[in-house]
Amino acid sequence: MKDLTPDRSSLDPIEIASVDEIRALQLQRLKASLCHAYENVAMYRDRFDAAGVHPDELHSLSDLAKFPFTHKSDLRDNYPFGLFAVPREQILRVHASSGTTGKPTVVGYTKRDIDTWADLVARSMRASGTRPGDLVHVAYGYGLFTGGLGAHYGAERLGCTVIPISGGMTERQVTLIEDFRPDTIMVTPSYMLNILEQFHKQGLDPRDCSLSVGIFGAEPWTNAMRAEVEAAFDMHAVDIYGLSEIMGPGVANECVETKDGLHIWEDHFYPEIIDPETGAVLPDGELGELVFTTLTKEGLPMVRYRTRDLTRLLPGTARSMRRMEKITGRSDDMIILRGVNVFPSQVEEQVMATGGLAPHYQIELFTAGRMDAMRVHVEAMPDAADELSRTASARMLSKRIKDVVGVSSEIIVGDPGAVERSQGKAKRVVDNRNKE
Ligand code: DLL
Repeated sequence: MKDLTPDRSSLDPIEIASVDEIRALQLQRLKASLCHAYENVAMYRDRFDAAGVHPDELHSLSDLAKFPFTHKSDLRDNYPFGLFAVPREQILRVHASSGTTGKPTVVGYTKRDIDTWADLVARSMRASGTRPGDLVHVAYGYGLFTGGLGAHYGAERLGCTVIPISGGMTERQVTLIEDFRPDTIMVTPSYMLNILEQFHKQGLDPRDCSLSVGIFGAEPWTNAMRAEVEAAFDMHAVDIYGLSEIMGPGVANECVETKDGLHIWEDHFYPEIIDPETGAVLPDGELGELVFTTLTKEGLPMVRYRTRDLTRLLPGTARSMRRMEKITGRSDDMIILRGVNVFPSQVEEQVMATGGLAPHYQIELFTAGRMDAMRVHVEAMPDAADELSRTASARMLSKRIKDVVGVSSEIIVGDPGAVERSQGKAKRVVDNRNKE
């Protein structure tokens, strides 16, 4: 793989500023952001008043802990535009996430917000190894989802040529990769596996294709999956993180030269890690729920937004800003099986490590008698699809999950292609409990 470390002179100066400088900028911006929220959003004013706190009382970054949290339900309760901090006419664009239940969560951006977002996605892409002039294939979905348009504006801001293909029509994705010869692809990791499979179906060697960087996010993926994709395509696979409520893709990104977790763009977002049960702020290095406060957003300022994502904060390496460890999972994706906490990513690691199995999987929860039970649907590699190999793979995977994750599971090794393919975010868990 090519060395794609960016030239230090191409970075934004704040990316490599001293930690003191970054903290000073954050404090100044945090004060302004809390004032903006308090003065312009009724919910924040009521909440701060009820908690007996005022933005004037923020003297240090740690004072933020006195302010109340914001939850996803607050966006739903104020659906659609109730948390906007500027008149609707100043909102240039809205996005929305569908969610699994009820009303979607609507977010809005002013002109300056859209501009900052493009800058931060451009910064994320540069960290990933993409350069001005590169050709970028954007296979995140366009539309209300922030992935497609977020990536698109960032790529243009960096000075790239964008191919706005969006998700789906996998055969055509491969045709365009072959014909246009893009340098970078931006897509969910699960859909990248779908594209990989399509290369094989068409008798093409993915290592011969033009791609040198993949910028993968919008769902959890493991380092085992990184190794798989990097080997298959002979490309760098880099992690991008974000959420619509805070901005969209580009809140944090890995650096291609280290791939050691995602640098949070702390000049625009202030991260905290809290104990999800008590809400107490935890020191850097400890695992907990990630909470963000936006520092510069005009349209939809967010104060202590509970992401439900579980990770830990680590010191900067390739950049001065802190890193977050690759996300283990979401607290609401956590399966509690007979008292053991299980994340889909732990199962993914074991699927990847088991010979004879393709990297596609889905976890099904069901009721066995009065107990919850787990079934893992995987599929045989085409060259290991005979009965004997399948039985061996199933035994091996079941043993690995028992030994490493600590739970018993039933393994179903289907035919090649048996597991549902994703076109965007993969559905990793199907809950059929009490339905059998
Ligand atoms: O998924 C934004 C995005 C688009 C990020 C494209 C990266 C690339 P939402 O639909 O609001 O926004 O979903 C946000 O997705 O809270 C995480 O649970 C999950 N997520 C996003 N990126 C990652 C990642 C977009 N790199 C939710 N690793 C977040 C793990 C991720 N989970």
